[in-house]
Amino acid sequence: MNTKPSTVAKGIILAGGTATRLRPLTNITNKHLLPIGRKPMIYYPIEKMTGAGIEDILIVTGVDHMGDVVGLLGSGKDFNCRFTYKVQDQAGGIAQALSLAEDFSNSVPVAVILGDNIFEDSMKPYLEKYLKQKKGAHILLKPVQDPQRFGVAEVKGDKVISIEEKPKIPKSDLAVTGIYFYDGEVFDIIRTLKPSGRGELEITDVNNEYIRRGIMSWSRMDGWWSDAGTFESLSYVQKLVEDNPPK
Ligand code: DAU
Repeated sequence: MNTKPSTVAKGIILAGGTATRLRPLTNITNKHLLPIGRKPMIYYPIEKMTGAGIEDILIVTGVDHMGDVVGLLGSGKDFNCRFTYKVQDQAGGIAQALSLAEDFSNSVPVAVILGDNIFEDSMKPYLEKYLKQKKGAHILLKPVQDPQRFGVAEVKGDKVISIEEKPKIPKSDLAVTGIYFYDGEVFDIIRTLKPSGRGELEITDVNNEYIRRGIMSWSRMDGWWSDAGTFESLSYVQKLVEDNPPK
C-alpha cells in the first residue's frame, strides 16, 4: 500500500435526501436549490471546494431533481471545476449516498460536504491538515447550543473518543459538522454498515469505525457554521451569510 501523503483530494457534495422538514418549499424542488442570500444553497459547498483547490467534484442527488441540478450547474466550467453526477435512487442515508462515490474517488482522499451545511471558514487549511495524515479520517467540530440536533463528539485532546447521533443527553456541546475528510478505506467501511433505527446508513457509524481503528482526528471550526435543513436554521443561515459572508 502507498503510504505517501497525497497532495490532492477530490470533492463530494451530498445533495440528496427528502427534505421533509422544509415542506412545502421542497415539494417541487430540491432543498439545495433554495436561495440563501443571492445564490442557490448548493453554490456554497461548491465554492468551498474550489476555494480549497479541488477541481474534481461529484454531486449526488435524487432522481426527482437531478435534471434541475444539472441544468443549474452544467459541466463545472463556470466554477472552474469539473462536475460528475450520480443519482441516489432513494434517500438511504448519508453513508449510502457517499458509497456511490467509490469509482469516482478511485482511492484518492475525498473531502465531503453535506449540501445543506453552510460555513464561514475557508476549507483549505483543514484539507491541508488532513492531507498531512497518511491515512484515516478528519472531522470538523463546532460548539453549539443545541447539540441534540446533531452528531455529538466526545474528545480528549486531539483524539475523538466517540460520536453519538442526536443523543438525548449529549456528552459535550461539540456538534459534528457535515464536512468530512476520508481515505479510500471509507468505502469498505460503508459496506459493513447496517441500517439504523431510522432505516439509513449513518455517517456517524462510519466515523465511529475510524475512531475504533484509532485513525480519526479533528479540528475545531473557527468561524460560524450552520445546517439549513429546517425553517429555523434556514433563516438563521440567511442572516449569517448577510452579516458575515463566507470566505
Ligand atoms: O448537519 C450536520 C449533521 O448532518 C451531523 O451532525 C449528523 O451527524 C448527520 O447525521 C447529519 O444529520 P441530519 O439528520 O441533519 O442529516 P440530513 O438527513 O438532514 O441530511 C443532510 C444532508 O445530507 C442533506 O442536505 C442531503 C444529504 N443526504 C441525506 C440523506 C438522508 C443525501 O445526500 N442522501 C440521503 O439519503
